[in-house]
Order: sequence, then C-alpha cells, then structure tokens
Amino acid sequence: MKTYRIPFNKPSFAGNEERYISEAIERGHISGDGHFTKACHKLLEEALSARKVLLTTNCTHALEMSAFLTGCDADSEVIVPSFAFVTTALAYTVRGAKPVFGDVRTDTLNLDETGVERLITRRTKAIVALHYAGVACEMDALLDIGRRHGIPVIEDNAHGLFAKYKGRWLGTLGVVGTQSFHETKNFTCGEGGALIVNDPALVERAEILREKGTDRSKFLRGLVHKYTWVDSGSSWLPSDLLAAFLLAQLEARDRIQARRRFLWERYTRELVDWAARHGTTLPHVPAHCEQPWHMFYVLMRDTAQRERFITHMEERGILAVFHYLPLHLSEMGRKFGGQPGQCPVAEDVSARLVRLPFFNRLSDDEQGEVIAAVHAFNG
Ligand SMILES: Cc1ncc(COP(=O)(O)O)c(C=O)c1O
Repeated sequence: MKTYRIPFNKPSFAGNEERYISEAIERGHISGDGHFTKACHKLLEEALSARKVLLTTNCTHALEMSAFLTGCDADSEVIVPSFAFVTTALAYTVRGAKPVFGDVRTDTLNLDETGVERLITRRTKAIVALHYAGVACEMDALLDIGRRHGIPVIEDNAHGLFAKYKGRWLGTLGVVGTQSFHETKNFTCGEGGALIVNDPALVERAEILREKGTDRSKFLRGLVHKYTWVDSGSSWLPSDLLAAFLLAQLEARDRIQARRRFLWERYTRELVDWAARHGTTLPHVPAHCEQPWHMFYVLMRDTAQRERFITHMEERGILAVFHYLPLHLSEMGRKFGGQPGQCPVAEDVSARLVRLPFFNRLSDDEQGEVIAAVHAFNG
C-alpha cells in the first residue's frame, strides 16, 4: 500500500487513553460492562439526554440490533438510502430482510424524504435515516411518515454524534440511533459503537439481545437471582479496555469538536472561491442543523475531473478519497432488484464526491498544504 505524506485519516489521541486502560487492567475487569463501559454509558446518556445507551462492538452491530428490535425477518423490507455505507443495508439482510433503496437529496445527500412514501409496502419494517456527514435528515418529515404508517425510523448516526436537528440531538429522534467509534470517526476506540435506545419499550430487549440472549443485565441489577437464556441475540459487548480508551476521547469532546470545527471552517473559507471557479460544490448545512464537523467533501463537476483531482493530490503526497458506490448498483444491491437509473441522485453524487484529509490532529501546516494543493488544481 502507498504511503502519503498527508493521509486521509490518522487516529488521534486525547491524552488519557493509556492511563484509563491501565486503570481498567488494575481494576481486574476487562470484559464487557465494567467500570469504563458504565462511565461511557453515563456520559453519553447525560450529554444527549438519552434514555438508554449501550456500547456495542461497532456501529454495524448496533444496526443489527436495530434489525432484531424492529422485528426484521425474511418477510420484511427496510428502506435505506442508496448513498450509504454497506452495513447500513447489510445489517438488515443478515436477518433476511430486503433492502429497498431510496434516492438522496441533492443538497445534504441524505435520504430524500419526498420519495420515501412510495417505497412503503405492507412488508416495510423500518426506515433508516442516515445522517450523512452528521448533517441531519429531514427528521420531522421522516418521523411523520413513520407515524402515519406505523413504521419505526432508525437513525444511522455513525457520523453524527453531538450534532443536532432543530435543537435536538441526533441519535435520539428515532426509535433507536446507532453510533460508530471506528478509527475514522470524531471519537474512536479503534472499533466500537453504541446503540441509543429511545423507545422505552425496547430497552429491556436491547439489553437481552446484546447479552447473548440472556437476562444477565437484570441479574447484575439484582432483579433476578440467576440469569438464563430468554431470547435471540448475540454477543455485542466491547471489552472494558476499549471503553477505557473511548472514555478518554469522549471526555475531550469539547476540545476535539473545537479543533474539527476550526479545520472545517478553514477549508470552507479558503476553498469557497476556488470551488466557484471550478464549478464544484462544498458541503451544505441547512440552518436548522448543527453539524458535528465530521467530514469535508467536495462535489466535483464530473467523474473525469474527480479522477484528475485525486491524481493531482496524490502527486503531492496527499490522499483524497471518494466513497459510497450506490448500494443499489452493487453486486448485492442488484440481487435485491437494484437497477441503473433507480436512484439518479445517488448515482450522480457518488461519481463526483471526493473527501479531503480531515482528522483531529491534522496540523495547521498540513491543512495549509492541502489547501495550497487544491488551489494549484486547474482541471
Ligand atoms: C454511515 C455509516 N454507518 C455504519 C457504519 C459502520 O460503522 P462500524 O465500522 O462502526 O461498524 C459506518 C462506518 O464508517 C458508516 O459510515
């Protein structure tokens, strides 16, 4: 694999990770739901005013839990945006459900709420609202559709921790929200995730599913005198060592977000004229959305210009990447009936989007180099 002077992402450390991991070892509890897992739960529940947060092994597994919680099975359909991460759809297919791909909006690249209703059938079990780049989907409209049809809305909030929609925290608006703490996210423990359970009726089952189908959580709270196998599920608890790492990051959230905000705003400020001259577009954040400064992307004019741009950056030792091939056109997507032209906006933006290096410890000088390299592009 090539190495780049300025990579696209580098994991960043908040400072207390090693100390907390040593403490977890000293405490002698390094499996799931130890001291640090509980501390992460408490921090997130308080910060988000969330009813229940459960750390999971990753966001994909939190999405899988949402498939169980909404009763997905081989007879179900789940509406997902086509412009999405693979596991936004995969998580439901492992339960046998069929993903039904919706197109995205041209401004925020989020699921286009105006096209959702016509995708609903009597089999629809859930609508997945992925907040792309942590900029909220039009949740009022999606929740209204969900309410009218009796279909739960799940938030894939992998990008959007600490972002808001009309003053409300993302991840707390749907029946459940899912978070990622993968290395590429604002807050990380390498691999990790969380399920935010907002519907009180789902809390007990979520705990059971995550604990290998047992009522161990009740046992640990002294509510039953022995625990036993009561339901389906799997083992989705992260080690307390990972939770220790994560706590250090979450505690530093103000500092991390301030740095990311600075980087994001500088990219915007210093690239806005260049973007206009080249017929490219910078990210759009509606006034009613508070974003989490998760990523910085540019929508190029067309694929050829994007390819020239990526090569231009690469020649200067800078890695710029694109992502999300439309899911309906993937090999698996086609098996679920995906056809070219089905989601034209997803197809279009997927062919034009490029992301710039963006991580907590991107230095001012490094960012200056990226900006200078972009300015030197005239293609
Ligand atoms: C939108 C979205 N959903 C889900 C995931 C899966 O997250 P994880 O790697 O924690 O399973 C990602 C990962 O980047 C993502 O971007």
